[in-house]
This record gives sequence, C-alpha cells and structure tokens, in this order.
Amino acid sequence: MTETIRVNLAARSYDIVIGSNLLPDAGRLLKPLLNRPRIAVLLDENVERLHLPKLLAGLKPLGVTCDLHVIRSGESAKSWKILEECVEWLIDIGIERQDLVIALGGGVVGDLAGFATAIVRRGIRCVQVPTTLLAQVDSSVGGKTGINSKSGKNLIGAFHQPSMVLCDVLLLKSLTRRLMLSGYGEIAKYGLLGDVEFFNWLEENGSKVISGVPDRLIRAVQKSCEIKAGIVAVDETEHGRRTLLNLGHTFAHAIETDVGYSDLVLHGEAVAVGCCLAFDLSHEVGFTDASIPSRVRSHFRMMGMCTDIHQLPARLSPAERLMELMKQDKKVVDGKPRFVLARGIGSAFVAKDVPPDAVRQVLRKSAGTNRQ
Ligand code: GLY
Repeated sequence: MTETIRVNLAARSYDIVIGSNLLPDAGRLLKPLLNRPRIAVLLDENVERLHLPKLLAGLKPLGVTCDLHVIRSGESAKSWKILEECVEWLIDIGIERQDLVIALGGGVVGDLAGFATAIVRRGIRCVQVPTTLLAQVDSSVGGKTGINSKSGKNLIGAFHQPSMVLCDVLLLKSLTRRLMLSGYGEIAKYGLLGDVEFFNWLEENGSKVISGVPDRLIRAVQKSCEIKAGIVAVDETEHGRRTLLNLGHTFAHAIETDVGYSDLVLHGEAVAVGCCLAFDLSHEVGFTDASIPSRVRSHFRMMGMCTDIHQLPARLSPAERLMELMKQDKKVVDGKPRFVLARGIGSAFVAKDVPPDAVRQVLRKSAGTNRQ
C-alpha cells in the first residue's frame, strides 16, 4: 500500500510518497526528477550501515554516480561548522543546479541538507528520505531548513521545499521506543491543533502506531502529512495559519535551549510537554475548561510520555529563565512571545497578548514550584 500526498505550491509542488519498503523502489520514484546520472547523498552516521545499502541498491537501475557525505549524529551537528563542511563538499564534488541531493536521516540531516541545498549555487533540488518518525511526520515536509544559533533553535535558515519526500515506514523498525514516542509528540500535535477526529483515533490507536502495526503507522504518517501539506499549501512561509504547527513549540524550544539541545530531552518529548502546557495556558487564560488539558495529559501519560517539566530527566531553570528564552522564539513580535492556544481539542489559534503571569503560573505548576 503506497499513499501519495501532493503538496500544492505552484512551481514548488511536490509529492510525499508514504509506504512500507519504498527504498528498493527509489530509482523508479526518483527517475522523473533526474537530469543527469549524478546524485549526492548527505546522510547521518547512524543510518549508513542500516539503510544506505538498500538506498544504493534501489538507485542502481538508474546507473547514477552517487557521492556520499556522512554527518555526525545529534542536534549539535546543526551548526555553522557542519553546514560549512556540507556546503564545501557539495561545491568540491562539482554539484550543479540540475543535480539532485538526497538527505537520508532524521531531522538533523534533513534540516542541514535542506539548508545547504538552499544556499549552494542559490538552490539545488533536495529529496528528503526521512528515517525517523519525527522527520517523516514533520521536519521533512514543508521546506523549513536550517541550523541552531547559540541563542536558540533553528534561528538561522531558509525555506527550501524538497522536490520529493519518501517516507518508508519500514525504516522505522530500527528505532527505539523512545525515538518512536518522540515522533509521536508531533503526530498528536496535529490532532490537537486542528483535527479532533484524528485525536480520537489516536486515543484508540496510539499504542499500535508506536509498536509499528503497519496499517496504523502508515495511517498516522499519512494523516499527519496531509494536515501539514494542507497548512503549508496555504501559508508556505508562516505568516498566518502555519504558525499553528508550532503548537507546544514555544515551551518546547525554551526547554530544549535550556538543556543545551542535549539528548536528555528529545524534540518530540519537549513538544508533548509543550502541548500540555499550551492547553494549561489556554485554560489559565479562560479559553477552555479544565477537562481539556486533563484529556491531553491523560493521552500522553497513557502513551508513557512525560507531560510536565518536573518529570523530565533534566533539571530545568526556573520559570523566569524559561520565559527569557521564549523571547528568542521565532514567533516573537515586538519582543513578546506569541503562543498557539486552543479553544478545545482540534481548535488551535494564535494568541498575541498572553499575560506573562499566566505563563509563569503554568511553568511553575508544571515544574512543581508554584508554592515557592
Ligand atoms: N515544524 C513546523 C513547521 O514546519 O512549520
């Protein structure tokens, strides 16, 4: 079963192909994009042994020359230094605008390769082959590319849409449960921000998605990509509706920056906590009743995920410091962070004037320091 979702962006439109065991078919899928028999692959060191041989075998029928560049694993690779290495490598191997670059890996490789291909020769086409659940449902789709600044996550980057996204769910078999759950944080986010029926479905099927039951996993990836594609098609560069995709992310990015992007808290884990806090904040400022954040929290808890700051395996800074970090969020307007809040499950909106006291209260409660 292969599903194809079109991201409609005029001349920058592309397909997201979702299925199980797609890599052997990579040659046939990519053939229409090929102008000359030359492909460069940027890949994560962890996937070199696991998935590269299968990708190369899939590309073999094309008779292409494949140049490979391995990137070290981990969020710290999203740096000026590694970006420079990737860019200089692409130039050294003589990559041309007509060529194709494949990003094989999780969000780190996808963001780096996407950014490198956005700026080398002012733009080379990039095909995303995401190997983590998080990258399949979020970071590989929509064209956000970039690296981290010492002041915050993803503060340096460009919009550069991929030319195709190949989501092979068989690649997810090698992931740990923790990595699957991190991807699940983003999947749940889609239901929470705009599709209550999807969230209802996740409440029934979330555990099967995580344990890799093929039809449930494909459905979850497909639905997430459909929701994202629909939003990106109407607001490619995030001047309106796309902001909703940041539900939970103002809190999440502050948490991740506070722990120095370390593996102590993975992105999707921070997003799950961030979603709980966004619903708490929605309640605190009067947009929902208490049953809504409680339903959100119960679901993440049932999935075995952290829902609050005090449960995270890292000691976080006090609320005031996290609020300082939020001022570096990309959604900041006039120095004030904007929050994605909700009137209910599936009804998110962007709120501009959220009282800092309400944010402080929510953070303190979540950290277990509200009585200090
Ligand atoms: N991850 C949020 C977005 O792509 O807009």
